[in-house]
Amino acid sequence: MILLFGSLNIDLVAEVPVIPGPGRTVLAPCYRTHFGGKGANQAVAAARIAGPGRVRMAGRVGRDGFGDSAIENLRANGVDADLIVRAHEPTGCAFITVDQAGENAITVASGANITASANDLPTDLFSSDTVLVLQMEVPFAQALEAARKTKSVSGTVIWNLAPVPEKMTGEMVTELLAVTDYLLVNEHEAMDAAAAIGLAAASYETAAMHLAEAGNLTCIVTAGAQGALAMTTDAAPLHASTPRITPVDTTGAGDTFVGTFAAMVSEGVPLQRALEVSCEAAALKCLKAGAQTGMPVRSALGSLA
Ligand code: RIB
Ligand code: NA
Repeated sequence: MILLFGSLNIDLVAEVPVIPGPGRTVLAPCYRTHFGGKGANQAVAAARIAGPGRVRMAGRVGRDGFGDSAIENLRANGVDADLIVRAHEPTGCAFITVDQAGENAITVASGANITASANDLPTDLFSSDTVLVLQMEVPFAQALEAARKTKSVSGTVIWNLAPVPEKMTGEMVTELLAVTDYLLVNEHEAMDAAAAIGLAAASYETAAMHLAEAGNLTCIVTAGAQGALAMTTDAAPLHASTPRITPVDTTGAGDTFVGTFAAMVSEGVPLQRALEVSCEAAALKCLKAGAQTGMPVRSALGSLA
């Protein structure tokens, strides 16, 4: 079973000519509302590939309309949402600007997400078949506790270090590496994490190698159009390339990679193929606006045919 513990947001998205800098105002014709939150995005991405009934999500939303629709959306996508708790705080909201090249800037108002607790995950949920997927939009200590519960029964932990915290300590990275099987990062997150444990590197490849060795794990770096790289401790680096596309919206591309990768790990697919399939899914996502809209279903993936 794939188990997501993470954030659920409603994304308020404005398409802008340029992403405004400090003190600037830009006008957008309108805004659109999309389902988001890295946890929910990854749950939906995984369920589109793994099929209904294979993914459960735990996390928190508010007692508001946004919370109702976030839960309904998970269910509509075949994700079991029975573990989601309604908090007093409002449902998380992300304010997103997307420019004409499909690049984005995101501010997340966490709300209910910061009350998410590892206690929302009953102990009997975990088994050696559990593939737990984590990000950095719920409290770190709670995510760590969920990872420890998974490792105590020899389950698998996939940790996506996004968004990388402003103040990430070496202690945090060390604790995270100890419980993680697959660390999924982008170039910056790889360099930041390595630097936090005193292994500053000049390239993300070297950073990924340091992280893989320090945690005795597989470190996967997603590098957008450059594809993905996997560093393991016992084999040569693997690389998969991304199909060439013209992006409409890259929001949720990383989440699509992570969710798809989780589905592949849970099926026991070899690493090289898991990377290829996840790169294809992430690229296809970018053809549609909104974090989840463009996430492909299994039959849409040529690399899984
Ligand atoms: O990764 C994209 C997501 O980050 C958005 O859906 C937004 O909610 C933020 O959490
Ligand atoms: Na580890």
